[in-house]
Amino acid sequence: MGKVMIAPSVLGCDQGNIAEEAMALQMAGADMIHLDVMDGVFVPVLTTGAGVAASITRRIDIPVDAHLMVQNPSNLIKAFADAGCAYITVHAEVTSHLDRLLQQIRLAGSKAGVAVNPSTPVDFLRWVAPAVDLVLIMTVNPGYGGQKHLGYVHDKIPETRRILDSNGGAGALISVDGGVTDANAGKLISAGADILVSGSFITGSGDPAAAIAKLR
Ligand code: DX5
Ligand code: ZN
Repeated sequence: MGKVMIAPSVLGCDQGNIAEEAMALQMAGADMIHLDVMDGVFVPVLTTGAGVAASITRRIDIPVDAHLMVQNPSNLIKAFADAGCAYITVHAEVTSHLDRLLQQIRLAGSKAGVAVNPSTPVDFLRWVAPAVDLVLIMTVNPGYGGQKHLGYVHDKIPETRRILDSNGGAGALISVDGGVTDANAGKLISAGADILVSGSFITGSGDPAAAIAKLR
């Protein structure tokens, strides 16, 4: 298990200044930038498109994970891949053709991620383990930053690791997203998280570098 990576979510940043904010987070020690893409349908909020993703990837040299909280991700995959997103993560809940969607992401040139909401079981991973590069385990119900961390979801982390490792997905990373703070980071890391996505704990802290260091 390598060093845990910290991926600040820019959802809570000044949305008109998001590329500068991403650059500042890179300076503050971020390993990745987590871009929350919301369509106002899958979740009730509308955020940014591929154009904003491109303005971020142009300005930083750490990977961007586009977290697509959208009802119809297949329309957007090429645009976010062309925008330079290293990872494109789709929600398992929006499709009955997950394997095809994951292949579409890799064919477009990005690494393929699948996100699971708190109530979504992970046993389906057995059938797509070789097709995923990242599993995003939501520890909040998606749509907003600053929500309460749902600790009961922790059990999914070792279960996900076991399913991936025994079905050809040993190379896939496990990322945890939602209410991640220094109060739960240790538990998440020992449960097997490779990446910690954290929004308000970092961007609301007044000192992102210190917040990132605390998580590590
Ligand atoms: C929620 C997003 C999360 C969120 C995390 O729908 O997917 O990435 O921005 O923010 P915090 O860490 O404040 O819960
Ligand atoms: Zn997210």
